[in-house]
Amino acid sequence: MRPINLKDLDRLFYPVVPVVVTAESGGRVGGMLAAWWSQLSFNPPLIGVAIAPERYTYRLIKESGIFGLNLLDFKHVDRTPYLGDVSERFLRDKIKKAGFTIFKGPALGAPLLKEASAAVEARLTKIVETGDHDLFVGRVEAAYAIDDFDGMWKLRSYRPLMYLGRTRRPGPVYRFYISAESYEKRMLEFAGDPLKRYHVLRIKAREAIFRVVREVGRADVNEVAKKLGELMKSYGLDTADLELYLKEAIKAGLVKEA
Ligand SMILES: Cc1cc2nc3c(=O)[nH]c(=O)nc-3n(C[C@H](O)[C@H](O)[C@H](O)COP(=O)(O)O)c2cc1C
Repeated sequence: MRPINLKDLDRLFYPVVPVVVTAESGGRVGGMLAAWWSQLSFNPPLIGVAIAPERYTYRLIKESGIFGLNLLDFKHVDRTPYLGDVSERFLRDKIKKAGFTIFKGPALGAPLLKEASAAVEARLTKIVETGDHDLFVGRVEAAYAIDDFDGMWKLRSYRPLMYLGRTRRPGPVYRFYISAESYEKRMLEFAGDPLKRYHVLRIKAREAIFRVVREVGRADVNEVAKKLGELMKSYGLDTADLELYLKEAIKAGLVKEA
């Protein structure tokens, strides 16, 4: 490896499967492509998207508190300039003009794309100011997919649209999108040998710690603290890690925060 210029950092992280973030407010429906998104939590099911304040979609979500995420097949690649290059602020109904059909999601009424391979409806829970983009966190209330998704993508009819980045000015700007014609698929056993015992150790330590943590409130505090200390030691764990395990226990709803 050799050092790279940090101005190319975003492209270092590509390819990614971008989403079309959709929202509606005051009779205006908008949407934009977003490559900077992620699931943030299993329980509750949270997702996050980094959106720059300049985007019209930013305003739509802030006003309505509801948004959709749509996954597109590569077959829609030629329509993406409407979603990712121009703004609804200046080109009204750009989604329709791109040739997409909007429908209201049955759960929250979020505008979704009929042509999407999958979509979710989310309720905005918070906006976290980060840098030049803000992180919109949403709780997913409902999700939909075409038949290719059977608890997992089969990738027989769905060819995810992927983004590789764009060229920089000066000079004409080009965006690169990619697809895969075939996938190399491999099934790997979860923590298969020789790793099995380390996985078992991890689970056992966690269970044992949580068992003691559950006694908080019922048993003597000093007694619980002592037990935890001994337990951590017996697993060769740093007592400083106890704080992290407690955090996990609180998040799992095993104990209430003091
Ligand atoms: C593939 C791709 C990914 C993008 N990812 C993001 C992103 O994660 N966050 C963001 O704010 N803008 C992102 N953009 C830019 C917006 O999609 C673009 O500015 C869009 O025109 C905004 O539309 P709007 O003003 O109608 O909301 C991306 C563009 C493309 C083409």
